[in-house]
Amino acid sequence: LYDGYRQMRETQPVSFDPNFQGWNLFRYDDVARVLSDHATFSSDQNRFIPAEYRDSSPISSSIVRMDPPRHHQLRQLVSQAFTPRRVAHMESRIQEITSNLLDQVVAKGEMDVIRDLAYPLPITIIAELLGVPIERHAEFKQWSDAFVSGDGEATEEDRQASIQAMNSMVSYFTQLFEERRAYPQNDLMSALLLAEVDGEHLSNEELIGFCVLLLVAGNETTTNLIGNTILCLDENPGEVERLRANRDLVPKALEEALRYYSPIRLQPRWAVTETTIGDQRIEAGQLVFAHIISANRDEAQFLDADQFKIEREPNRHLGFGRGVHFCLGAPLARLEAKIALNTLLDRLPGSWHVPDAPLSPIKNMSTFGVKQLPLTWA
Ligand code: HEM
Repeated sequence: LYDGYRQMRETQPVSFDPNFQGWNLFRYDDVARVLSDHATFSSDQNRFIPAEYRDSSPISSSIVRMDPPRHHQLRQLVSQAFTPRRVAHMESRIQEITSNLLDQVVAKGEMDVIRDLAYPLPITIIAELLGVPIERHAEFKQWSDAFVSGDGEATEEDRQASIQAMNSMVSYFTQLFEERRAYPQNDLMSALLLAEVDGEHLSNEELIGFCVLLLVAGNETTTNLIGNTILCLDENPGEVERLRANRDLVPKALEEALRYYSPIRLQPRWAVTETTIGDQRIEAGQLVFAHIISANRDEAQFLDADQFKIEREPNRHLGFGRGVHFCLGAPLARLEAKIALNTLLDRLPGSWHVPDAPLSPIKNMSTFGVKQLPLTWA
C-alpha cells in the first residue's frame, strides 16, 4: 500500500482517476493546500452533483460536508458543546470504562485489542455524550457497525442491512429529539436542540446529520488510532518499555501513529473555480481526493518518513485534517487514546507481542486499520 503511494508521489502526484472521475493528490503540499483553501475547494457536494447522483447518507447534511458561512455557524454552535472543558470532564469516565474493559481480560494473558478495548471504548463514550440511554447501547452499536461496514466487498444484503440500520437510527433519533425538546437535559443533544442560528433552530435533518457524523467520524477512527498505535509499537521492539518508563512520550507516540498509520485515508473536495495543482489544470466542479495517508509519508515534508519516530519534531501531520474542517473531536480522540495506551502500559506487564502480524487490513477506501488485533504479553 505505502509503496504504491510513494510511487504515485514520485511519478504521478496529481493524476486523474477515470473510475471515480476525480483527481488524486498524493503530495503533502497539495493535500495541505486543498484541505486549507476552502474558498477554492468546497466540501459541499450539493453545489456540484445533480440530486440523483448525490451521496444520500445523513453525513452529507452534516458540517463536514458544508462550506462557510453555514459551516462556520454550525461548527461554532457544536464546538460550544464540545469544549476542551467538557472533554476534560470526561477523563474520569473514560478511565473508568477503560479499566472495566481491561478487568475482563488481563487475567487471561491475551486479548484482542480491537474487540476488547479499541472498539467498545469510543462507542460507549459517544453514546453517553449524545445522551443515548444505556439500554439502547447495543442497538446503537449495531447502527454504528452498519455505517462503517462500507467494506469494498459488501454484498447486496450488507447494503440493505445498512439502509435498514440507517432508517432505524433516524427514527430513533427523531423520537429522542422529541423527548429532549419536551424535557431538556444536561447533554450535548439538548444543547444542540436548544441552540439557535440566525434565530432558528437546527432542522431535524441537520441534527441527525450531526449525530451520524459523530458516530461515523468518532468511532472507527478512534478505534483505528488505538489499534494502529499498537501495530506501530509491535513493529518497533523496545518502544513499549521506553513508553512505560517515560509517560511523557505517550502523546508523542500517538501523534506519530496518526502520521505513520493514518486512520483516515482521504477526504473529497470539489473545485469551485478552474485552478491548477502541480502541472495539471483542474476544471471548475471537478472532484479532488486529498490522500492524507500518502501526504503523511511524504519525504519532502518528513525526514525518514517511513520510520516510526516517537520524538519526531516537528510533526505537522494531516491525520486530523487542516483548515476550517480540522477534526472537532481531536481533543477527545487524543484523550481516549492516551488513557487507553497508558492503562495498557500499566496493566499488561513486560513486552508485548502481536502473534499473527501482519494482519489483514480493513478493506475500504476511507479508513485504515485492522479488524482484529490479538496481543499477548510476558
Ligand atoms: C473532521 C480525523 C476522531 C468528530 C475530521 C477530519 C479528519 C478527522 C481528517 C477532517 C475532514 C475534512 O477535512 O473533510 C479524525 C481522526 C480521529 C477522529 C483520525 C481519531 C483518531 C473524532 C472524534 C470525533 C470527531 C472522536 C467526535 C466525537 C469530527 C467532526 C468533524 C471531523 C465533527 C467535522 C468538522 C468540520 O467539518 O468542521 N476528523 N477524527 N472526530 N471529526 Fe474527526
